[in-house]
Amino acid sequence: MTLLTVESLKVGYGDLIAVRDVSFTVKPGEIFVLLGANGSGKTTTLRAISGLIRPIAGRIAMEGEALGAIKPHAVARLGISHVPEGRRIFPNLSVDDNLTVSYLPTRTDKSLRAILDEVYGLFPRLRERHKQMAGTMSGGEQQMLAIGRALMNCPKLLMLDEPSLGLSPVMTDLVFERLEAISNQGLTILLVEQNASAIDLATSGVILSNGVVSMAGDRAALSSTQYIQKAYLGV
Ligand SMILES: Nc1ncnc2c1ncn2[C@@H]1O[C@H](COP(=O)(O)OP(=O)(O)OP(=O)(O)O)[C@@H](O)[C@H]1O
Ligand SMILES: [Mg+2]
Repeated sequence: MTLLTVESLKVGYGDLIAVRDVSFTVKPGEIFVLLGANGSGKTTTLRAISGLIRPIAGRIAMEGEALGAIKPHAVARLGISHVPEGRRIFPNLSVDDNLTVSYLPTRTDKSLRAILDEVYGLFPRLRERHKQMAGTMSGGEQQMLAIGRALMNCPKLLMLDEPSLGLSPVMTDLVFERLEAISNQGLTILLVEQNASAIDLATSGVILSNGVVSMAGDRAALSSTQYIQKAYLGV
């Protein structure tokens, strides 16, 4: 059983091919990592899955159903939530309002209050600051809010684009630990990272280099790659 299938994906911008022949599958319950250096095609891959860019070729399927030329709002309704690079939040809205506007009642029978309580249960820091203007929160708090917003859709698949970007190591650990807690609640996660320590959370994943998959495997297999070894050991 696979939740998400990406097959021979090719995506470009004008003449530039950013991603070519990328294939992977994400199984339910996994924390699947998409690792790679700057410009390796991580964001492009996520944007193609979300329907934000039309691939040149390839197939993307959710629970066996091909997404085709689907629009982003329809992707969200299928249960795919995307926390974009740079955490898109509404800076002039309160934490409460940021979460409330992201609620998708068509996805769930749960009330707004019930889901808000779940998100605040995962991120007590957000509950403490529920009336604060989002733009005045710290980078780490804004990342928590961006993840909280994605959870308001009650997704089946949570995709995150470099949630550790710009965060201190302590805050990165806290965010990663929360992702594990979210995963333990049964949600499937597709985590894009440049930060090699994301491997510690992963069940499996791929490493992208210059738009192609250079390595695929489970955590143990990925850990032995040069990408991870270099980051950890400087070898
Ligand atoms: N809107 C765009 N127009 C033209 N080229 C783009 C555009 N967005 C990305 N690219 C190019 O596509 C390639 C892949 O970019 P992408 O943003 O997917 O990489 P990334 O792995 O997410 O990198 P980073 O870690 O820096 O976020 C790069 O060469 C980039 O310059
Ligand atoms: Mg990126």
